[in-house]
Formats: sequence, structure tokens, C-alpha cells
Amino acid sequence: ARVRRYKWEVKYEYRSPDCFKKLVITINGRTPGPTILAQQNDTIIVELKNSLVTENVAIHWHGIRQIGTPWFDGTEGVTQCPILPGETFTYKFVVDRPGTYLYHAHYGMQREAGLYGSIRVSLPDGKPEPFAYDYDRSIILNDWYHRSAHEQSAGLSSLDFQWVGEPDSLLIQGKGRFNCSRLASPTLDVAKVCNTTNPECSPYVLTVIPGKTYRLRVSSLTALSALSFQIEGHNMTVVEADGHYVEPFVVQNLFIYSGETYSVLVKADRNPTRNYWAATHIVSRNSTTPPGLAIFNYYPNHPRKSPPTTAPSGPLWNDARPRLNQSVAIKSHRDHVIPPPQTSDRVIVLLNTQNRVNGFMRWSLNNVSYNLPHIPYLIALKHNLLHAFDQTPPPDGYDFKNYDIFNVSENTNGTTGNGIYKLDFNSTVDIILQNANSMSNKTSETHPWHLHGHDFWVLGYGEGKFDIYNDPRKYNLVDPIMKNTVPVHPYGWTALRFRADNPGAWAFHCHIESHFYMGMGVVFAEGIDRVGKLPSSIMGCVHRN
Ligand code: C2O
Ligand code: CU
Repeated sequence: ARVRRYKWEVKYEYRSPDCFKKLVITINGRTPGPTILAQQNDTIIVELKNSLVTENVAIHWHGIRQIGTPWFDGTEGVTQCPILPGETFTYKFVVDRPGTYLYHAHYGMQREAGLYGSIRVSLPDGKPEPFAYDYDRSIILNDWYHRSAHEQSAGLSSLDFQWVGEPDSLLIQGKGRFNCSRLASPTLDVAKVCNTTNPECSPYVLTVIPGKTYRLRVSSLTALSALSFQIEGHNMTVVEADGHYVEPFVVQNLFIYSGETYSVLVKADRNPTRNYWAATHIVSRNSTTPPGLAIFNYYPNHPRKSPPTTAPSGPLWNDARPRLNQSVAIKSHRDHVIPPPQTSDRVIVLLNTQNRVNGFMRWSLNNVSYNLPHIPYLIALKHNLLHAFDQTPPPDGYDFKNYDIFNVSENTNGTTGNGIYKLDFNSTVDIILQNANSMSNKTSETHPWHLHGHDFWVLGYGEGKFDIYNDPRKYNLVDPIMKNTVPVHPYGWTALRFRADNPGAWAFHCHIESHFYMGMGVVFAEGIDRVGKLPSSIMGCVHRN
């Protein structure tokens, strides 16, 4: 195994990813940031300089479990103090499993300002994958807003609630296209802020050689949107999800939620005299955002030559059925099954609702909306700082009998809190994510839930209210996939199981940036007595005497 060193400088720069010029956060001048390429068991060292001048930062290594290094998970408020302006912080961790992972800011809403990138971990030399391909490529899908993350977070947390609204565009590997003519105004020199001939916003080009098979690693780091992804006229075979091999299945449309990663195999086997569209569309919300387009370029056609066809129109936004079907279709590859424990020691049901708490619009779990404490949990727990957060744990369930998940609820008993779930070390925990109607009539959203520090088995999905007596009988205890991010579909439930075997404090939250910001998360802690000595570099916010 090797050591891979990176020196990154994080700062604000003007960029035009979708032709509209705005301040974005770059790493060494780039957004998406540099891809981390490594082999299994390599050590990654990232020396990160915060040159944001007035903002803190922290970077999370999404999908990396941080076994033995819980303090380098990069979650501000949970595992570390923020990196202050001008400071340099060194992350050091081992990528212990092959697969497709991500990194992104985990401070405020900086992720959507452009601070994100890919991690690709390959197998050690000579070890084969359970599928064959000629070339390996990565793309990140994202949604993009012209308003700053600051303005958005201020709107979300003000009494006069301002929703972020639908994104202005969708990006494929950092490139999108906004229709600048929509900005036309007599007082604005549009060409100065929005210019569709700017090469920065020319579509992303994926060049393929006819007859070859491509492993395309597709991931999503959207701030809000659930997406579909397709390559005009081509089938995709799904072979990996969140770093685990999938029993292969074929799709035309890949549905993908924020925080998920997939590998699909695509064969360049169509008419090679032309190019094709790769397109991403918003699903699950009735969005006005135009699709994101890239060019699937058959060599040697010109990479900028537009396909002769109109771009595919994408699936119906409100047809939840194929999305649920895809979720259910994802099973562990038959030769790579990691059998789940057949029983669990504890079941935590998390009711996902929108609430008004003291007049503020919030998202809650079992009517508790989450607030980050000033002292990170890992430090507070290790050093026994009992005053740092609420010592009463949040509830393990909600009022199953009386709560109507299908209608708008008053949720008048909503509170905010920063208590955590303490898990017995090595115990097996089931989480039931229960979706419900939000505060708008006839609306239930899709929430992608992401767990830090662990993978979980996805035991099942269902519609309506989870039935604690009968639904567990339908769990897949034979070949469930393991993932780190999973959707809970509108008015449905999702059941997960994981082993609390990683000493540390770990966030579990909705990966929609604004939802987490509005309280949609919890924290688990386990095996704190087994956590080694904390590095002093994570403690910049703690007063020690
Ligand atoms: Cu990718 Cu806590 O997030
Ligand atoms: Cu959510």
C-alpha cells in the first residue's frame, strides 16, 4: 500500500459552471476538486489550507468509514472543530475498500458552493473485479443555484422563512447551461454575468471508442434534487453501489439521490457516425429546472458536435413506481454477499416530518429537530464534557397508533435538541425511516439518508406506515446490498441494519443540504472508550484549561 499526499488550497473564485458567473469555492482553482485516485489500503494525506478569508471549513470523506481515525471524518460539530480561515489542517486516513466515494464540505451549506469531488479506490494490482470493462470514468451530477449559499442559509433560518426554490441548472461533472436570455433586463449588462459562449460552460464530453465497454462511475451531490441519468439509446448495467458489488441489472434510466454512487457498464455499440446525449433530469419534484446535458462522443466524431436528435425527455417526475422498483432491484452480487445479522438488538424508528418550532420552519425526526452543538461530540464524549450537549437521548420512535402520515399534521410538540443515540458497542441496530406528509398538502418528499462511519444492509422498502409486527417478516436477510446512502420514498419506509462496530461519533442525516441545515439529522455514538487519543488539531474550538 502507498501513501498519497495532496496539498489543497480552498478559496473563493469567480467561475461560470453554467455560464452564469458567481463566486464558487474551489480546490486548487477547480470545482469539482481534484479526483483522489488510490488503491485499496492506501493512506491518503490531505493538507488543507483554508483561504476562504471569512469562513470556516471542514471536509468529509463520504463513504470512507474512518476505522481507527474517527477524528478525520471531517464533520464539523460532530468529529472536529472547524478549520479557521488561514489555518492548515491535515487529514490522514486509510481507504480500506475498493469502490466509488466522494468528498465534500461539511460546514454550513458550503457543499453547494462547489466544494466537492470524487474518490476512486481501485483493487490491488492483479485482483479482478467481478465484471469486465475497458475504461474507467467518473462523473458527478449536481444541481446549481445562482444565489449564494449564505443567502440561502439566511433565508432558511429566518422567521420569515425563504425556501431555496428549484435549482437554476443541473451540472454534469461541473458543467451545465443556463439560458442567459432569461436574465434580460434594461439595467443589467447580461453579457457580463452570463455568457453562453464561455468555454467554461461548454457541455462535458465523454469520449468513447466504438465497441469498447466503459465503467462509468456516476455519483450525485445535489443540494436538493433527486435525479435520473440516461445515455440516449444506450443501456446501462448497474454493477456497483456505494462501494459494493451489485447483482447486475440493466436500466435505461438510473435514478440517483444525493450522496449515492453507482458504477454502470456502458458499451459503445450504437451507430458510431454520430454523438449522443447524456442527460440528467429532476424527478420527485415538479421542477422547472432544465435537464443537464453532456455529449457522449463516439471517437473520431468531433467532441463538440451536437447529436442530431433532441435530448431525451426523461421519466415522469411524479411516477414514484420505477424509482421504488430500482431501489428494490439493488441486491448484493451473489459472490460478494456479506450476510446480515439475522436479528437486531435495538430498533429505532425515525419519523421524517416538517415542523414549525417556535415559528421557525424545521425538519424533524420524531418531532425533534437537530441542532449542532458548539463543542464537537467526539471531543465532548471523550473528555466527558457533559455540559456540551443535551444528555437526554432523543426518542426511539413516535406515536405509531395516532400519527397520520398521509396528511398535514400540526406537529405542535416539535422541539429542537442536540441529544444523541448512544449505541452499545458491537450491537446490531435497525433503523426504520418513516416518511410522512410534509407541511404542504398532498406532498411527501424523497429523502436520501446518509450514515457516516458505517455501511448498512438495506433490508427493505415499503409503502405507507411501517408495521412493526408484519413488515420485518418481509426483510431481505439473504442478499441485501450494503450502502451508505439510501432514499426513503414518498409516503414510504426504508429499513436498515448496521453493526455499531466503529468507535466514534457519527452523523446520520438527510443528504439534502437544506434539510440537514433545517435539522434533519441525528448522531450515533459507540465505543467511545475505545477511541484513541484525539489529535489536538481537531480541537481548535475547545477551551482547555
Ligand atoms: Cu455526504 Cu454527512 O455527508
Ligand atoms: Cu430530506
